[in-house]
Amino acid sequence: MILKQLEETAQALVASDKGLLAMDESNPTCNKRFASLGIPETVDARRAYRELIVTTPRLGECIGGAILYDETIRQQKSDGTPFIKVLIEAGIIPGIKVDQGAKSLAGFPGEKVTEGLDGLRDRLAEYSRLGARFAKWRAVITISEGVPSRGCIAANAQALARYAALCQQAGLVPVVEPEVLMDGDHTLDRCFEVTEEVLREVFFQLYSQRVALEGMILKPNMVVPGLSCLHQESVDEVADATVKCLLRTVPAAVPAIAFLSGGQSAELASARLNAMNLRFTSRLPWALAFSFARAIQQPALELWKGHEANVPAAKQALFHRARCNQAARRGEYSAAMETR
Ligand code: 13P
Repeated sequence: MILKQLEETAQALVASDKGLLAMDESNPTCNKRFASLGIPETVDARRAYRELIVTTPRLGECIGGAILYDETIRQQKSDGTPFIKVLIEAGIIPGIKVDQGAKSLAGFPGEKVTEGLDGLRDRLAEYSRLGARFAKWRAVITISEGVPSRGCIAANAQALARYAALCQQAGLVPVVEPEVLMDGDHTLDRCFEVTEEVLREVFFQLYSQRVALEGMILKPNMVVPGLSCLHQESVDEVADATVKCLLRTVPAAVPAIAFLSGGQSAELASARLNAMNLRFTSRLPWALAFSFARAIQQPALELWKGHEANVPAAKQALFHRARCNQAARRGEYSAAMETR
């Protein structure tokens, strides 16, 4: 019974070529993004910004689920309506980030492991009562000389699998996010090699922990060259490498893959997702969708800058990015969409 419900939720999240909107930045991350634009790093500013997002008109046409943060899931609009209610009325399924951040992995200098398993069962029960129907956990894998290690990959994959199993038991669809970071000067081939190894281990651990693949969503990185790598492959080359890597590693039972954006520009993330769907749709056993934070939010945040007068323009920019990414799911995105 629970499995059927999980499958239905997973499919609803990406139905009609929609995707996910990650708005689950932790307070320190949200504050960092605010600070760079001179926006006050306060609970009021964070609440106002999240209200801007959830009240964006027509967002539910392109966004199937929104990932909230512990602070946000408990917040309300200025008129007192809980954000959760606003989302549900807009046809957007509420989700929640449940990991407690990536911390230094003991014995592995420069590598991280995500914490948050202790007490997770109780937190999931509470979030479910609040109205969340899916959850997210992010593991972080760094590429550098001799890194990532087997130990780091195994520790992160096991935590992801234990989290996913607990989510499914609580009736929440786990969004499983192993992120291979773009930081560094590594090549696309190196990113491919690491992403393949990570995904193989993640699916081995998911199997070991008896996670039902039909009731989860994978949230991986695209296979891209490091941000400071001198050679940057074309959009089509990135699309080809990413799909090749996923076809090798992600079982067909998984209903959807929803990419993180990871620091790519908003336009590039849309173009790459579009190229994957345009070139490979007939070969793909899973939906190829998006679960972007920065690649949907950043243009809107830069317009808003914390000022009430900028809210309408920021909402328009947010909707625009959501619509571009829905078009990318259909292979119908083009640069022309950007000249509004
Ligand atoms: P980005 O799209 O900004 O990478 O964020 C996605 C996310 O949810 C990271 O956990």
